[in-house]
Amino acid sequence: MQTRVMEVDPLEDCRKVYKEAAAILEEGGLVAIPTETVYGLGADALNTEAVANVFAVKARPSFDPLICHFPNGKAIKDYTDVPEELQPLVDKLAKEFWPGPMTLVLPRKPIIPDIVTSGLPTVACRVPSHEVMRGVARALGRPIAAPSANRFGHISPTSAGAVMKELGGSIPLILDAGACSEGLESTILMPCLDEKGKPAVRLLREGPITREKLRGICRVLKPGKGKTAADEALPNAPGQLKSHYAPCKPLILWNPKEEFTPEDGVAYGLITYEGDSPLAAQDCWVETMPLSPGSGRLAEAAVRLFAVMRAMDENEEVQVIIAEELPEMGLGCAMMDRLRRAAAKRGE
Ligand code: TXA
Ligand code: MG
Repeated sequence: MQTRVMEVDPLEDCRKVYKEAAAILEEGGLVAIPTETVYGLGADALNTEAVANVFAVKARPSFDPLICHFPNGKAIKDYTDVPEELQPLVDKLAKEFWPGPMTLVLPRKPIIPDIVTSGLPTVACRVPSHEVMRGVARALGRPIAAPSANRFGHISPTSAGAVMKELGGSIPLILDAGACSEGLESTILMPCLDEKGKPAVRLLREGPITREKLRGICRVLKPGKGKTAADEALPNAPGQLKSHYAPCKPLILWNPKEEFTPEDGVAYGLITYEGDSPLAAQDCWVETMPLSPGSGRLAEAAVRLFAVMRAMDENEEVQVIIAEELPEMGLGCAMMDRLRRAAAKRGE
């Protein structure tokens, strides 16, 4: 199959492009669509065959559920059944963080097909801030089920070029709106009641909406901690596999305060946080790439993380990637989560 790439500038009138993409989805086809986090591989969420094709094209196991994308928060009400006691919290989170990089796992209505949710009684919902994903969802008039547009377990794509490398030849269309502004997948939250029966959220995946931002809004329960009655009713996320977001080459996390001892005959590439890391001063690297070339900004590092990992993976001189550990605060938590999974051995 030939993959067409269509450039789209959300600052211009894109209705024609949205219509064309929606027409492909309508017929059960797949379209790669940009969001502010990463590019998604979109299908009509209500078309089970199209969704099955998403799993096939990505080689994604069927137990890993998909996120549905909506043009606005109101549209979500037709597809979910939020218990009364959680509705005020859901409304508060929606008001604060939508449109934006937050996904809420909510009890679903039967209209959402089992294949989307891997049979779970909940559906993951997101209203992205990227005009293109919302525009296509609006044109389709139905939610768009979209995982990240990469082969399963690989590095997530933050540009149309990366999508082309991952899925070129397997899908008919990629909408190219340039690089993603966040660069990390959405924060996934499951609203639930805590042990005292108060509304809280369980953080299922760290992302651009940080713990610090959430704490001002509601209590954040750690995964696995303080099982609640609501959790028993709504099983936790599958799909958060230990090994994920992985380059093809081995990746090792390194504390930048400790000297690195290279093995003879191995060519190492180094990913640093800032431009002037002490590790970079060692002379054992065939390539060095900083995540934040300036003064060390987590937001800059987040935007570049997947692109830099991909560049290291594609560098033929590099055999093993060494990645500096990042400060675990704010966005650093989500980045360390991705780096740890990238470092985990395949199959774990
Ligand atoms: O930023 C993002 O979230 C991107 C863009 C495209 O929106 N999408 C994305 O999708 O990262 P994906 O498929 O790579 O990750 C989806 C994850 C699953 O692996 C699972 O952990 C969680 O969302 N998930 C989906 N449905 C769930 C459910 N019903 N309950 C718990 N977790 C769920
Ligand atoms: Mg993914």
